[in-house]
Amino acid sequence: MNTLLALLGTELPLIQAPMAGVQGAALAVAVCNAGGLGSLPGAMLTPEALHTELKTLTQGTSRPWNLNFFCHTPPVPDPAREARWREALAPFYAEAGLDIGTVPTGAGRVPFSQAAADAIEPFRPPVMSFHFGLPAPDLLARVKGWGSVVLSSATTVEEARWLVAHGVDAVIAQGLEAGGHRGMFLSDDLTTQVGSFALLPQIVAAVDVPVIAAGGIADAAGVAAAMALGAAGVQVGTAYLCCPETTTSALHRAALQSEAAHHTALTNLFTGRPARGIVNRVMRELGPMSPATPAFPLATAAMAPLRAHFEALGSGDCSPLWSGQNASGCQALPAAELTHLLARGFK
Ligand SMILES: Cc1cc2nc3c(=O)[nH]c(=O)nc-3n(C[C@H](O)[C@H](O)[C@H](O)COP(=O)(O)O)c2cc1C
Repeated sequence: MNTLLALLGTELPLIQAPMAGVQGAALAVAVCNAGGLGSLPGAMLTPEALHTELKTLTQGTSRPWNLNFFCHTPPVPDPAREARWREALAPFYAEAGLDIGTVPTGAGRVPFSQAAADAIEPFRPPVMSFHFGLPAPDLLARVKGWGSVVLSSATTVEEARWLVAHGVDAVIAQGLEAGGHRGMFLSDDLTTQVGSFALLPQIVAAVDVPVIAAGGIADAAGVAAAMALGAAGVQVGTAYLCCPETTTSALHRAALQSEAAHHTALTNLFTGRPARGIVNRVMRELGPMSPATPAFPLATAAMAPLRAHFEALGSGDCSPLWSGQNASGCQALPAAELTHLLARGFK
């Protein structure tokens, strides 16, 4: 038996990637009931919202599920950096006729915390996955204490070894093709980042826990390729973005299913950390990686009103159009159907 299946307790070694901002419990329920491991992203939920989503999830499926959190260190706000960021965005604010002076500063995404742990403890998640490393040792011990299997993303061999040394049960090898945030946490040097084909076999050789391949997997052939390279399972994000169970906006869906999706880039403009999305106007005009952004996740606050303004006009000029490099699997298919299609790659 695949050791990953034994760990996760699922029928398929397939994880639907947690995707904060574009999905709630509905997608996770559909994937769990189709035999995969559905995931609920917690990064953008208040403890109350988390409780509601967890109730929906646990009422919707009796199968194992995954709850995901970020574990970054909250930054100390830096007024000088914030001022530089607002200056960079000023031309967009002028065009939109918005007053940047009225925009509050704020976080946007929260790391896993004791308060979040209080909210989830009654639900005892069968699996918990983390991005940007792992929670502090006392919090991690709490999670393990209630029995969750622990996963986290590694973007380099060094990160994979670090995660194993700090107690993960399996490693998610996140290749450079992946959509959304790079899970990198030992270095912020983007030249350390490796594509899936190169990263996966090197992590498989370096660690003695199951390795889950993520990044660029969009169909059954991609699943089979990852398994041939030694993966114990796969985690797929972008391909699920157009499923009816997601909350992906109409603009975002249209971009994913257009030629525009052929050009993605890593950008820090939307949160302060590099994440992969479809290149749009703000990325072209400010450069996808700007030295002006405040530390993650503080860049979000000043970008949010611009996003809302342009989206109301039907434009994704200032929206994070998160996507991996391979959006070819994005179809408006029910998540269960997509899961079954991907699962053909395990045969
Ligand atoms: C829209 C979007 C949001 C994401 N949000 C999260 C998240 O909240 N937590 C997380 O661990 N990973 C997140 N990811 C990254 C995924 O876990 C995964 O690494 C990635 O989707 C795999 O590559 P693929 O998109 O090419 O399938 C996100 C990815 C996307 C596309």
